[in-house]
Amino acid sequence: MKDKIQDYLKEINETNIDNFTNKIEGIEQFRIKFLGKKGVMNKLFETFKTMPNDQKREMGQLLNQLKTAAQNKIEEFKNYVEEQSDDSGDMDLTMPTDFSEIGSRHVLSVVQNEIIDIFARIGFTVAEAPEIEDDWHIFSALNFPPEHPARDMQDTFFIEKEGKHGDVALRTHTSSVQVRVMEKNQPPIRIIAPGRVFRNEAISARAHCIFHQVEGLYIDKKVSFADLKQTLLYFAKEMFGEDTQIRLRPSYFPFTEPSAEMDISCNICGGKGCNICKHTGWLEILGCGMVDPNVLEASGIDSTQYSGFAFGMGVERMAMLKYQIRDLRLYFENDLRFLKQFEAIL
Ligand code: PHE
Repeated sequence: MKDKIQDYLKEINETNIDNFTNKIEGIEQFRIKFLGKKGVMNKLFETFKTMPNDQKREMGQLLNQLKTAAQNKIEEFKNYVEEQSDDSGDMDLTMPTDFSEIGSRHVLSVVQNEIIDIFARIGFTVAEAPEIEDDWHIFSALNFPPEHPARDMQDTFFIEKEGKHGDVALRTHTSSVQVRVMEKNQPPIRIIAPGRVFRNEAISARAHCIFHQVEGLYIDKKVSFADLKQTLLYFAKEMFGEDTQIRLRPSYFPFTEPSAEMDISCNICGGKGCNICKHTGWLEILGCGMVDPNVLEASGIDSTQYSGFAFGMGVERMAMLKYQIRDLRLYFENDLRFLKQFEAIL
């Protein structure tokens, strides 16, 4: 046994890395031979176990010596191979690195902020209210009659309370913020309310169940339709360019009287007629009107003293018109190829 160990020690010492044609494989073979499960070391330990106790001490030391020698050799080989393959000398340190992706604002945030900025310049401040609302703030206080179709379950996401449809729902428009602001404040009131709204719509290129609105409300003494028109003309010019024209068409909302829908001259064809404006030269962009006295009274404002106007617009639609985005679904898909197109605008 002693001789055997001496022979193995000799073999280990004499093994040279250059003996291996394939170095990595050679090292592995070497390891298996000495340290593998059925290798030299394990076999020797088997014999060792059966030896008389008085020989064990010397033999044990020799065996450990052999094991360490094999381990050191393998370590030495590995270091050698690693050094050889270290190609840092060939590395081009002047090469540019992979730049990690830097995020940017979402186009809807960009457009929403732009709308806020435009109204902030003429004294409007931002107001917020809950996305989960009660019937009063979404409908009743806004003069919706009980049978109004907007309350229909097909439009509104109702929230179940104890298994029943209560009067709690996701707000279908930001007009609910008007009511909350009027309940808490007396005129003069001059706010805009940006926020998410929810409607039970099938998702398509032209409709989504989640979208964003910006609501505006101005209440004071002697606020007139002329003030509304001038405010919206200012907005249209700031948003879509100095040459933009507006036109108001009569419309209907339960909470405004009179009500109107506002169009801007098509900013793509300059009013000549194109696909986007369906050859009319006009693009519909928002709903507006004079706040119905019933709404003022429901929120605790004296309608004999005060009057006001309100308007509401869709942020997705504004962004579509401004950047010619054709499909609403793009906003929520988070496809980097889409998002990256708006990196440069802050
Ligand atoms: N709330 C209306 C809508 O969602 C928009 C609107 C707001 C109209 C304020 C008039 C006044 O369509």
